[in-house]
Order: sequence, then C-alpha cells, then structure tokens
Amino acid sequence: MILFKQIEALKKHLAQISGSIGFVPTMGALHEGHLSLIEKSNSENDITVCSIFVNPLQFNNKEDLKKYPRTLPQDMTLLKEHNCDIVFAPNAEEIYKVDSDSVLDFNVGLLDTLFEGSLRPGHFKGVAIIVNKLFDIVKPKHAYFGLKDYQQCMLIDKLVTDLKLPVQLHFCPTLRESDGLAMSSRNARLSELARQSAPRIYECLNYAKANYRTKNITSIEEWCKSHLLEDALYTLEYFNIVNAETLMPIENSKEKAVALCAAFLDGVRLIDNLVLN
Ligand code: PAF
Repeated sequence: MILFKQIEALKKHLAQISGSIGFVPTMGALHEGHLSLIEKSNSENDITVCSIFVNPLQFNNKEDLKKYPRTLPQDMTLLKEHNCDIVFAPNAEEIYKVDSDSVLDFNVGLLDTLFEGSLRPGHFKGVAIIVNKLFDIVKPKHAYFGLKDYQQCMLIDKLVTDLKLPVQLHFCPTLRESDGLAMSSRNARLSELARQSAPRIYECLNYAKANYRTKNITSIEEWCKSHLLEDALYTLEYFNIVNAETLMPIENSKEKAVALCAAFLDGVRLIDNLVLN
C-alpha cells in the first residue's frame, strides 16, 4: 500500500496504471462501513484508492470540524489489512492551493433547502466541490459511497449527472452495529449512556417500515418523534417520511418512500434513514 500526500505525485503514479481504478472517498476515522466499501471496490477493480481528507468546506460548524476524529495511523493499518492499494491523505493547503475550481458554482438545487441542506448551510456545496476535485485527481472508473448519508448520495448522483462525469457510482447499504445503530465515525464520541440510547433511532425507522402500509404518515412521524424524545438525551432535528427520489411529501402510496432522521444524542449529531417500500 502506498501513501500519497501530494496531488502531482499521485496523478503521476495513477497515470501509469492501465487497469480499472475503484475509489472510496472518506474523511478517515474508518469503521467497518468504510472497509466494506474498500472490499467491494477490491472485488470490482484492479486497484483501489482511498482518500482521507477532513474537508473544511463541508463543515458549517467550526466546533464540529475541530472535534472530527483524525486517526490516520489506525486508518492506515486498517486499509493495509483490507488490501487497499493507495491512500491519498492530503492536507487542506494541498487540496485548495490552486483556485481552478470549475464546480464552485455547482447548483445544488433543492437539496440545499431540504433536511441536511437547510440545517447545514453550505454543506452540500462543500461536498460537491471536494468530490469533484477528488474525481478529477483520481479519475476512477467506479466510486463507492455509503447510503447512510442518503442526501449526500443524491447530491453526488446529481453532480455526476449534471457535469457528465465519467464515473460509475455505487451507493452501498448502511452497515449497523448488532443493536441497529448505523456505523459512523461520530459514534466514537458517544458517552456510555448515550451509546445505550442510540438504538432508538433504528427502532423508529423500523417502526416506520412496519407501519407504513397501515397507518398514516403523520401518526407514524409523531410516534417516532415521541419515542426519541422520551429519552432526555435526545434533541430532534427531523424525523420525516418523504418521497425517496424527490424528498417531497408523499402524495400516494405507490411512491417510493424513505424515512429520514437527524438528532443530537447527548451533543453528538447522528443521521440515519430507511427506505420503507
Ligand atoms: O461522506 C464523507 O465522508 C464525505 O462527505 C466525503 C464524501 C468523503 C466528502 O468529503
């Protein structure tokens, strides 16, 4: 496994490779969810590149950026154990040194006004800029993302479609702990008490799935909100059931529906989702 910190060195190395490149962009603090993406990429490509970069542009909250776990040595060990070929771990100066950013004006559209977009102003624009930059550097044939970040997957799909980028996207199922908590780098910040409360989110998502056909949407949403808020460690941002393709309210039962949830659990922001039908 080779580690690159400089764009030009990585590009030079990749230019000599004739096989297919699979790419897993991450912000590090890797867990089994990321590693399953590495394994999928390994099985479908000649080489796998993983990037580790905590992208300041996608953090609207400075404290959150400061607290984001940075664990490069452990990440490197895990990536090596999972047969990743190349790690790209630049710093912010390296990534943002040249202002040749064709995507700075990328129109995130409605995604910027809904759920994560409205609660984290500028977040999706920041994600679009970095993912476009990374795709431009790595030039992957396939790229892999986790569906836990449901809206992010929609954004990346839009980015690739709108800019006609030559990459095939793979959105992969969320990996969960045995009690249902979605794997996330942020879970490491949960206190012992908060960790015990964490499965409530998945309980709500399952309740939504189990009752979607028989109960009305508002009553399901209300049940889920109260189930979370019964636990004093939770502050709810949203729990909504919406059209899985547009994120708009459901108008008829034939539409594909997704339940989306974001909540602070003892100060740690968690998001999760489940497609219901
Ligand atoms: O999902 C993430 O880890 C990040 O948003 C990504 C896609 C690596 C862009 O910084």
